[in-house]
Amino acid sequence: MFLTAILTSLSLITAPYNRDVQLLDGQWSAIIDQYETGTGKGIYIDKKPEGKTDFIEFSWDGAMKLDVPGDWNHQRPELWWYEGTIWYSRHFNTEKEPGRRKLLYFAGVSCRCDVYLNGQKVATHEGAFTPFQADVTDIIRDGDNFIAVRVNNNRLASAIPAMSFDWWNYGGITREVMLISLPETYIDTWFIRLSGNSSKTVEAEVQLSSNEAGRKITIEIPELGIRKSALTGADGKASAEFKAPGLKLWSPGQPVLYSVRLSSGEDSVEDEIGFRQIVTDGTKVLLNGNPVFLRCISFHEEIAKESRRAWSEKDAEELTKAAAALGCNMIRLAHYPQNEHIVRMAERMGLMIWEEIPLWQGIDFTSGETYGKADRYLTEMIARDRNRCAICFWSISNETRPGKDRDAFLTRLLARGKELDSSRLFTSAFDVAYYIKEAGEFQMKDSFASLLDVIGINKYMGWYAPWPDDPENLRWNVFPGKPLIISEFGCEAKYGRYGNADTASSWSEDYQAELFKKNLAMFRNIDNLAGISPWILYDFRSPYRQHPANQDFFNRKGLLSENGERKKAWYIIHDYYNEKK
Ligand code: GCU
Repeated sequence: MFLTAILTSLSLITAPYNRDVQLLDGQWSAIIDQYETGTGKGIYIDKKPEGKTDFIEFSWDGAMKLDVPGDWNHQRPELWWYEGTIWYSRHFNTEKEPGRRKLLYFAGVSCRCDVYLNGQKVATHEGAFTPFQADVTDIIRDGDNFIAVRVNNNRLASAIPAMSFDWWNYGGITREVMLISLPETYIDTWFIRLSGNSSKTVEAEVQLSSNEAGRKITIEIPELGIRKSALTGADGKASAEFKAPGLKLWSPGQPVLYSVRLSSGEDSVEDEIGFRQIVTDGTKVLLNGNPVFLRCISFHEEIAKESRRAWSEKDAEELTKAAAALGCNMIRLAHYPQNEHIVRMAERMGLMIWEEIPLWQGIDFTSGETYGKADRYLTEMIARDRNRCAICFWSISNETRPGKDRDAFLTRLLARGKELDSSRLFTSAFDVAYYIKEAGEFQMKDSFASLLDVIGINKYMGWYAPWPDDPENLRWNVFPGKPLIISEFGCEAKYGRYGNADTASSWSEDYQAELFKKNLAMFRNIDNLAGISPWILYDFRSPYRQHPANQDFFNRKGLLSENGERKKAWYIIHDYYNEKK
């Protein structure tokens, strides 16, 4: 079991928040370790000096305190730009429970970490935006326990994202930490969804924590009067497929969710699950058999007015309500899996979701190590969220360039994604659609893209690319046989700056508004347009955006200022979306 505790468990318990949880949130001690001396000095043990001659330099006595969950950047001025290692620790009381297991679950740590419990290394994880866990049953003590976490947010060429990206490099234990108490054999993971080819048949796979055959698992949907049982195979997994007469399908207009109760032996757990179908038919996206136009918006996992990572239910409500107010029926969670509260809140509010791994621009496609990270992030994202019916699109890359290594890397990753979840559409966002003057149209050549169900195009006409002609004259011939989503467009504007509607460098709301009108005019010519997603809901923090007066390290492409003030372009999209309803 000790060995199991060391290897961060590759399975991820489903719906951890619905379990018997002891939250380890609150004020943790923290020490900046810029020279990486903590591990060697055994900082993960809360040592005290012994006798008259002993002294301990790397000590927790008097350490600063940081809130967990939370990025360190916004908590202290000296940490705003910090990239490196910070050690966190805290004591907590708990009790061993004979016959029960204890999982230590991290919802997200940015962006790599080592976890020690009572002096023993129990987990190591890289990836800021996906959870991980460790079974610590044999390491937990009755009474006082000591947890220490080494957190590092250095950018690495082998990482995903790599050396530069257009969002703030927040570091820290940015999401909840929890101790989960479970029966010796518990219901570990499940995947429950509408069968691909029927609107009234449910498919369920339920996995126990141990490979015990012949264990009965019961699935109940009380509201539908459904109670089905199945026996596990030698792998501890049980499958069932059953009719669900009276089932109401989830959609933005009817975001119906059912309480689904799973039980086996002494374990039982509930989850809120919706059922819907999402497929393409030619250039259309069909939700429950009906064509749907995706009225989307992107946002980062950030409360911009406080320059911090979003992490709580309250933060999730703020972001999703702002998207709903715009008239959206979908959100693009840029550029990484955002916290589970945002995903569940969006589902309850009737917002479809495009979720993606942070494979953003300059990735090292020649590295097997990097591929392993991409595979794991995709696996962890799908493992965490595959029961969330609001998620309709998995995206595996953003703005990568065609090439032998990149094509092979993404083709392999796409195959892995479809192996993990064949019930959703796969997409990516590309910035390689170009206007070909001789042809008088936009074209795109990308053999990898042809493998996807839906094509995302990021195109900043009027900002990064000048208009080659009046927008209404511009034709598009980009994957005409597939649904196209304009997954990013727009430009920067400083809230409250007016005039100069024809001058980009004015950073004015009027320039931004004009640009949006022109883009909407151009979009009318895209025959296979299935949706649009302006970049972006809020102005957001980025080290890329250095203009002292206009940006001050904010990317100002928001329809809202960082304080939530509506720019003129907000009203243009709001009206356009309301016409599309
Ligand atoms: C790119 C990228 C975004 C970035 C945006 C911009 O398309 O996908 O992450 O913020 O352009 O330049 O503002």
